[in-house]
Amino acid sequence: MNEIGFEVIGTGHYVPGEPVTNEQLSRVMTTSDEWIYPRSGIKQRHYAPDGVGVSDLGCEAARRALASAGIDAAEVDYIVFATMTPDYVFPGPGALLGAKLGIPGVPALDIRQQCAAMLFGLQTVNGLIKTGAARTILFIGAEAHAGFMPWEDWGALDPANGRFATPEAREKADKHRHLAVLFGDGAGAIVFRATERQAGLDGIKICSDGRFAELLYVPGGGFRTRPYWKADSFDGDMHIPRMDGRELFKFAVTKLPKTARELCAKHGVAIEQIDVFLAHQANQRINEHIRKDLKVPREKLPHNIDRFGNTSGATIPILLDEEMKAGRVEKGQLAMVLALGTGVHWGCALWRL
Ligand code: ACO
Repeated sequence: MNEIGFEVIGTGHYVPGEPVTNEQLSRVMTTSDEWIYPRSGIKQRHYAPDGVGVSDLGCEAARRALASAGIDAAEVDYIVFATMTPDYVFPGPGALLGAKLGIPGVPALDIRQQCAAMLFGLQTVNGLIKTGAARTILFIGAEAHAGFMPWEDWGALDPANGRFATPEAREKADKHRHLAVLFGDGAGAIVFRATERQAGLDGIKICSDGRFAELLYVPGGGFRTRPYWKADSFDGDMHIPRMDGRELFKFAVTKLPKTARELCAKHGVAIEQIDVFLAHQANQRINEHIRKDLKVPREKLPHNIDRFGNTSGATIPILLDEEMKAGRVEKGQLAMVLALGTGVHWGCALWRL
């Protein structure tokens, strides 16, 4: 009998509302499509409306994934929810999602590996399936970054409203513009099921290094301080992440190709044998570096950052859904997942679909 593996039986994604273009962002910050697109590959992104959290975005993506799997939510026996922008500081959104899907009682694990969530998610799913703890797992990656965007007048983004942010508001937003232009909101969902077919995790190498946590972090709202939230935190922009984009860029373009080679060497897989590279979408230039370094043909490393920006933990589930629905990624293929997220967490996985 084959060893138990896991396969994808359904995928789905959801992004909220109408896209917001680079041009529209220039209504609230001093920026432009000419600056953003060549440096990042991003043209537009979506934002969760006020009052809509990742449990809502994730619920919509989950419904679509369950429909594509052709199963009822009641068949799910485990939820794994990845986000760095939860509805509440605590509890995490996994149990909320279960309640919204009408399956209260199903165990829900919240993970927070930021943009590297898919790697840790795959390892978690592998463990749950192999130990028999679960047979049908709903994996969700969802983000609502809108809550940390450095402007308050959301109406100014819409040209139909005929107004721009005030000079004071623009000055404040400009301090965070290198970060603010990158992120977008959305959710992706994958339904995994145990199988005797040869499918699942063929190999994985993941690393975490907290020495670099402050390359991208939120300075406020943490429990190191008493109280954890202070009245003047908002004025100090403590809710807005601080990011050293250049260092993260260097980290990604050096660590990821190296890890990919090490993983392939360990498992006797040649880069050419890999059918598709599912890479986190933080910056198209990062992925172009990786692609050229590993000598991967352009068509094997799909991207969607132009339409969604960096959706952190949601990125790879959204990308997988798009690629599978378009028929460009199929069961039986060998995929490599590459991702780096703040923490810093990074790594690669060989995933037999
Ligand atoms: N519009 C116009 N000008 C801007 C903008 C903007 N949005 N942002 C910055 N600038 C200006 C700066 O003020 C600066 O001007 P100066 O030279 O006059 O001082 C100049 O452009 C260069 O700014 P940098 O911040 O140094 O820009 P850089 O070339 O490093 O590009 C970027 C910034 C695109 C963020 C890049 O560093 C990057 O993508 N890094 C990777 C980030 C990343 O991977 N983040 C996600 C991590 S994954 C996770 O876990 C969430």
